[in-house]
Amino acid sequence: MPLRQLAAALLLLVAACSKSPPPGDDPRADPRDAARVALGAKVYTQHCASCHGAKLEGQPDWKRRLPNGRLPAPPHDDSGHTWHHADHVLLAIVKNGLVPPYATPGYESDMPAFRDKLSDEEIWAVLAYIKSHWSAEVRAMRTEMFGN
Ligand code: HEC
Repeated sequence: MPLRQLAAALLLLVAACSKSPPPGDDPRADPRDAARVALGAKVYTQHCASCHGAKLEGQPDWKRRLPNGRLPAPPHDDSGHTWHHADHVLLAIVKNGLVPPYATPGYESDMPAFRDKLSDEEIWAVLAYIKSHWSAEVRAMRTEMFGN
């Protein structure tokens, strides 16, 4: 992404976050809720693993752009940047894909929108599943970033 576009994307993100910031961690994506995590594991295998990897490892060389200029699927474990985002942002990205306010207008991405395929409950569950893989360090950093 050209630097100017990146800066614009970051500004949008900050603007979106500064409106009465909802907490980082939503109880509907609680990784300690075993039933939710189990549902999330099923959803993940069926809808996410083909791109983000069965072990959440992402696509090989995921930081390097593909020949078509798009980015490969990043990992969802500690090594990626999924954990930098608050839960409500992740919900929006999975529902709508990478569109404004979490991407610049016209941004091209291979991340599909799941709003017609998955219910909010299923998306919260898959986020709980993803979060259940994060280390204690990452969880502590989120607490520092988001305050919950
Ligand atoms: C067809 C491939 C594909 C499938 C299937 C897919 N994704 Fe993605 N996903 C991507 C790509 C590619 C990106 C990175 C896009 C970019 O940055 O332009 C991405 C990005 C994301 C991000 C943003 C990560 C970040 O650090 O900003 C989240 C969250 C995400 N995907 C969650 C999911 C979930 C949950 C599922 C299953 C319900 C899923 N994805 C299914 C390809 C896919």
